[in-house]
Amino acid sequence: MLRASRLLTLLVFALVARLTAAYQDVELVPGRRYQASEVKPVHNLVRKYMRYSTAASSFVDIASGWTSCGLACNSPDVYDVALNLTWHVDIPLSDGLIGVHTRDKEIVVAWAGTHRYRALLTDMSVVTVPYMGTEGNVHSGFLESVRGAARVVESHLRQLMVDYPDYMVVFTGHSKGGAEAALSALDLVRRIDGLRQRVRVWTFGEPRLGDTHFANVYNKELGAITYRVTSAADPVVAMPPRFLFDYCHHNLEIWLSSAEGDIYVGQNFKECAEDPRASSSVDFYDRSIVWHKNYLGLPPSDHAVAEFSW
Ligand SMILES: *[C@@H]1O[C@H](CO)[C@@H](O)[C@H](O)[C@H]1NC(C)=O
Repeated sequence: MLRASRLLTLLVFALVARLTAAYQDVELVPGRRYQASEVKPVHNLVRKYMRYSTAASSFVDIASGWTSCGLACNSPDVYDVALNLTWHVDIPLSDGLIGVHTRDKEIVVAWAGTHRYRALLTDMSVVTVPYMGTEGNVHSGFLESVRGAARVVESHLRQLMVDYPDYMVVFTGHSKGGAEAALSALDLVRRIDGLRQRVRVWTFGEPRLGDTHFANVYNKELGAITYRVTSAADPVVAMPPRFLFDYCHHNLEIWLSSAEGDIYVGQNFKECAEDPRASSSVDFYDRSIVWHKNYLGLPPSDHAVAEFSW
């Protein structure tokens, strides 16, 4: 009798632990510094989502599976994931993937960075265009790229959300892919009922995506569940510059201030939310592309397959 009740308690406990372990939000307080040793769970999430970003930028295809992204894909974070959709659109240029991770109960939407020469043209389309008419202005290259895959991403995501009602939905990407992940998350929370309640956004080395007005719109809707990870002296996060078309970053900046992974969490500011003590504290001439290509040891794409790696 005693045994049975104990077993039951254990079972219930195991079940609760399992449910709460499904998505572990990380508690990070804006304006605080953390030693690398205090934030191991954050590092694990950075590496996990960075692997998806790398895969998306390495021509991963549903036909061949997780074979083309080298070391980044050689991890249980990735090879337990069922690829549901990979897209490679030429006009406008857009690549990415959707995966379903049963262990972590997550649906992940990953947008590719600059892994093809032609993607440089997307990056350079820095002229801004209005977002939804009145909600500020955004980078025209990123907007076009997101819209190029919008339909197929939306229809797959809608179906997956029905089939996996208790899974979180994570949007991720490195560099250009980070900007596109944030933009598509904002588009889709407005189009798909129930997405807002279970979405997270993790971006790495994201360039500025739009102007101050747009950043404020974004922050109001998704700033609290977005982790915009920046690496030490990454120059791409300083582009396009503030003075050009009033470009301004959205929240929440998670600045990896050292190679070991110490963290400073950016604070909110009233106008443009960029915290001068986070990555913008680094002088432009002290920045190096080396930092853009290294997020806690993970590369943005597999060198063996990418045409270009930035
Ligand atoms: C993608 O997910 C949908 C919804 O669960 C499913 O119907 C479809 O078969 C999946 N496709 C692949 C290739 O796994």
